[in-house]
Amino acid sequence: MKTLTELREFSLFALLLAIISIVLATICAKGNKKNGKMPPEVAGSWPVIGHLHLLGGRNQLLHKTLGGMADEYGSIFSIRLGIHPTIVVSDWEIVKECFTANDRVFSTRPKSLALKIMGYNQTMFDFAPYGRYWRDIRKLVMVELLSNHRLELLKHVRNSETSLLMKDFYEKSSRNGGQVVVEMKQRLSDMAMNIIVRMISGKRYFSADAKGNQEAKRCQEALRHFFYLVGLNLASDAVPLFSWLDLVKGYTGKMKRTARELDCVLGSWVDEHRRIRLNRSISEEEKDFIHVMLSIMDDSNVSVDEADTTVKSSCLSLLSGGSDTTTIALIWALALLLNNRNMLKKAQFDMTESPGLTVPKATPLEVVLRPRLPSIAYEF
Ligand code: HEM
Repeated sequence: MKTLTELREFSLFALLLAIISIVLATICAKGNKKNGKMPPEVAGSWPVIGHLHLLGGRNQLLHKTLGGMADEYGSIFSIRLGIHPTIVVSDWEIVKECFTANDRVFSTRPKSLALKIMGYNQTMFDFAPYGRYWRDIRKLVMVELLSNHRLELLKHVRNSETSLLMKDFYEKSSRNGGQVVVEMKQRLSDMAMNIIVRMISGKRYFSADAKGNQEAKRCQEALRHFFYLVGLNLASDAVPLFSWLDLVKGYTGKMKRTARELDCVLGSWVDEHRRIRLNRSISEEEKDFIHVMLSIMDDSNVSVDEADTTVKSSCLSLLSGGSDTTTIALIWALALLLNNRNMLKKAQFDMTESPGLTVPKATPLEVVLRPRLPSIAYEF
């Protein structure tokens, strides 16, 4: 009897608590709106899917649709992507504020099916939720791979990759009377990938000679599928109720297959590094990212399985974070330079005269700016 009364009291208390929470949340939301803290929301939101119907369907690119909305609602407005409230910003000063004064608010990441399945349950640190794990791994990466000291030690990787690319262009153009047509996007993408894969694992996978290499092929295929699948806008990410749609469309299955392939490749890198470390000591110059991470993991209390997962997911983070970004930046730089003869000449001159290229973080731009080839070779 006493238990029943207690249960009833508890239910009443829970109900009261729930009502108070809802009232407080409503007051806060209204307060925020009144204080002008909420950016204007685009009209036409539907229940469950929010504004998704306004973004698909139309025969124009997403950034143009959002640009049209910005014209109407201003440089900061909000939309709902299914269950996710989203802010769209198109003013550099507001963007700066998001990444400086308010970076804490924006530093977490939403969950996604692709990263759950292929990204080791969202443990890839660049997609991990804000918290201790993200802070620790990020710090480790910044110090051990992206610090000036480490970049200086690994300078030979970037130099040899840019030189190999330049040499190949030079040989091709020499054989062809000084001119050659090259698919720059593919070549720059291969170069960026080679640099990152070498810095991470010491391997070289992306080149014309690597085509016959089974391991290289497997890695390229797995990463290609990963990039494609991770870039999809999945129904279940916006509205979890729709997860059956991703299953029916076959995306879930494809992700699981890609995850297995990626894990095979990354796992073989880690196993190989573990074997080498057992047999001999590694010199400072030889230390790629996996060696560095393994030695840190060996000194910590985590299990071998956990350590391997952290190393593999961090490698995948760096591969995905450092490949497309670099390729796109190089393609844009090249396109802008080629469309501006004066700047191209100035850039060639500046690079020969200035010490700019000694700054380690600027080195990838060598491929665009280094005036090794006669200028005619850029005319494709
Ligand atoms: C031109 C090329 C690149 C561009 C435009 C670029 C852009 C960015 C941006 C905008 C962020 C901040 C993301 C955020 O906080 O939401 C970021 C973070 C980061 N980038 Fe890059 N990136 C480039 C190249 C690279 C390369 C080559 C690497 C390494 C191989 C790299 C590794 C990282 C890492 C580790 C972070 C921190 C991720 C985190 O805080 O969770 N990036 N990058």
